[in-house]
Amino acid sequence: MRDTPAWLYDEKRQIGTDYEDLSEIRAYDQRMAKIRDVGKEVREVLDLLDLPPEATVLELGCGTGEFPIAAVERCRKVVAADVSLPMLGYARKKAEERLREEGRKGDVERIEFVEGGFLTYQHRGEPLDAVVTQFALHHLPDFWKQVALIRIAGMMKEGGRLFIRDIVYSFDPAGAESFFDGYLSRMAEVGGEGTPRDILIHIRDEHSTIGWILEGMIETAGFSIERAEYRAGFIATYLCIKR
Ligand SMILES: C[S@@+](CC[C@H](N)C(=O)[O-])C[C@H]1O[C@@H](n2cnc3c(N)ncnc32)[C@H](O)[C@@H]1O
Repeated sequence: MRDTPAWLYDEKRQIGTDYEDLSEIRAYDQRMAKIRDVGKEVREVLDLLDLPPEATVLELGCGTGEFPIAAVERCRKVVAADVSLPMLGYARKKAEERLREEGRKGDVERIEFVEGGFLTYQHRGEPLDAVVTQFALHHLPDFWKQVALIRIAGMMKEGGRLFIRDIVYSFDPAGAESFFDGYLSRMAEVGGEGTPRDILIHIRDEHSTIGWILEGMIETAGFSIERAEYRAGFIATYLCIKR
C-alpha cells in the first residue's frame, strides 16, 4: 500500500468540536438526542436507499453509530468508518448494547468499524451498493470535499446510491449577520446550554459550504442528483445516483 503523501490534507486533525474527547462525544450524543429525531432520520435514509438484502453500505463519519445500528437490520454488511478512534469505540459499544437489548446480538458481527475517513478509507472487495454520510463532509475544505466525492464514486457500483446530509448554507450570504444571529438564538432555545458554543465553533472554524457549490461538486464527481432538499437555510440532504 502507498504511504500517505505529505501533501494530503490531514483529516485526523480535529477542527471545531474535538471528537477525540470522550466527554465531547457523550455531550454530542446527548445533544443530538435532544435536537434531532435520529431514529426517524435513519429510517428515512434507509427507505430512500431501498437496499437489497445482500447489499453492502458504507457510512463515512459514522459518529456515535445510529445509522449502522439501524442499517444492519436491512442489509448484509455495514462498514462504519470514522477518523476518531474514541468515536468508533463509543459507536461499537453502543451497537453491542443496543443490539443485545433488541435481541439482535449477532447482527453486530455484520458491522465493520474501521478507522478511516473521506480521504483515507480504502475500500476492498465488491463495489459498494450505497454510501451515506451525515454531518461529516463539512469537516473538509471545499477542494478536499471534491476529492472525497470522487473517491466515494470510485468505490461504488454504477447505479449505487449516495445519501448526504450536512450543514450546507442556502441563505443569501449578503444577510449572514442576521442569519447567524437568528440561527444561534434558535439553537439555544431547542438545544439548551452548550449548543450556542458548538454552533459558534461550527460557523467559525468548520467548512460548511453553499448549496450550489456542493451540487456542482457532487455532479462533477460522477453522480446525478435525484433529490436535493434545503431546510431552514442551513440543513441540506441529497440523494444521488452514481452515473
Ligand atoms: C458531527 S459528527 C456526525 C456523526 C454522525 N454521522 C451523525 O449524524 O450524528 C462528525 C463525525 O465525522 C467524523 N469526521 C471528521 N472528519 C472526518 C473525515 N475526514 N472523514 C470521516 N469522518 C470524519 C468525526 O470524527 C465525527 O464522528
